[in-house]
Amino acid sequence: MRKINIFDTTLRDGEQSAGVNLNFSEKVEIALQLERLGVDIIEAGFPAASKGDFASVQEIAKKIRTSSVTGLARAVQSDIDAAWEALKDGAEPRLHTFIATSPIHREYKLKLSKEQVVERAVQTVAYAASRFPLVQWSAEDASRTELDYLAEIVEAVIGAGARIINIPDTVGYTTPKEYAEIFTYLREHVPSINKVQLSTHCHDDIGMATANSLAAIEAGATQVEGTINGIGERAGNAALEEVAVALHIRSDHYQANTRLTLNEIKRTSDMISKLTGMIIPPNKAIIGRNAYAHESGIHQDGYLKEKSTYEIISPELVGVSTDVLVLGKHSGRHAFKNRLDELKLYVTDEEMNRLFVQFKALADKKKEMTDEDLVALVLEEKISK
Ligand code: KIV
Ligand code: ZN
Repeated sequence: MRKINIFDTTLRDGEQSAGVNLNFSEKVEIALQLERLGVDIIEAGFPAASKGDFASVQEIAKKIRTSSVTGLARAVQSDIDAAWEALKDGAEPRLHTFIATSPIHREYKLKLSKEQVVERAVQTVAYAASRFPLVQWSAEDASRTELDYLAEIVEAVIGAGARIINIPDTVGYTTPKEYAEIFTYLREHVPSINKVQLSTHCHDDIGMATANSLAAIEAGATQVEGTINGIGERAGNAALEEVAVALHIRSDHYQANTRLTLNEIKRTSDMISKLTGMIIPPNKAIIGRNAYAHESGIHQDGYLKEKSTYEIISPELVGVSTDVLVLGKHSGRHAFKNRLDELKLYVTDEEMNRLFVQFKALADKKKEMTDEDLVALVLEEKISK
């Protein structure tokens, strides 16, 4: 089995979703949950973008011990300096720097020639590598870049010290076959390719982000980038819960796995949805409310006879509870605490005292208290401190 590294960019690309603006403590809470989920790399933000981003990246780098924390930097020395200041106390500081490589971006956005883009990329990667133990370089809009030029610039940045090469489908334009061919081409035409890890980064503009990410993995990528619930710029990024569960359920096909604790997925997804205000569609794969609901008579009959007739993923695998115990205004403190423990929402005695009062007040207004309600209550308690 090949090990696939999970690079989570919920706090950077995900936060670029229109209308989303997470505060300092919300970002730290999310990073701690991503660490519990077991992601390998957390992209905590873009330190040069604002004082707020700098401060949250710095705090996350200090707090997180079992995931590597990274931050984004343009191909500009001052961005790299800001990222180093924010990340230097991390357990494994790594930099993520990028420059656009496609003809459209070179001509209209950067107004640079092919040679000038290579020169800028090499200079900044070499500068970054003189500070950071690990440098990732991304070719923005790689999927619309000439293949021979992409191979040339990738070889050049490897020479300058990049150790992870990311090939983004920045505008969600590519198809699985085409995207896989880019990875195959690079593996065949870049002389130093064996020194690096290849990474996939897909956007979902035509609904292909998960399929494209999996195609890249089949073609040799060993790192996959995405966000929880697939949030991100425009139509969003590859949904990491989809990619990870696909690798797990179809490990016979992919011969690859991740180190994610899959039963932390639901909790992570609920937290991100609550804090970003981005509601999960009921039919969303893996984590939607209806993802494990069987409605039609024929399906219910088959399911009751043998679950595997209509269910390929057991809800428990991803932390979705099928518990039927209902909490409401008549429930006692014990039942409330029990459910929090089952949901792994750990609270101190002091927090419990306040939470139980809030629980009763809310339950008085609602017929039934859902797990989402409990997650929301606990998050509010933790974040308000
Ligand atoms: O989509 C993209 O190209 C990006 C890069 C900054 C990696 O998010
Ligand atoms: Zn992106």
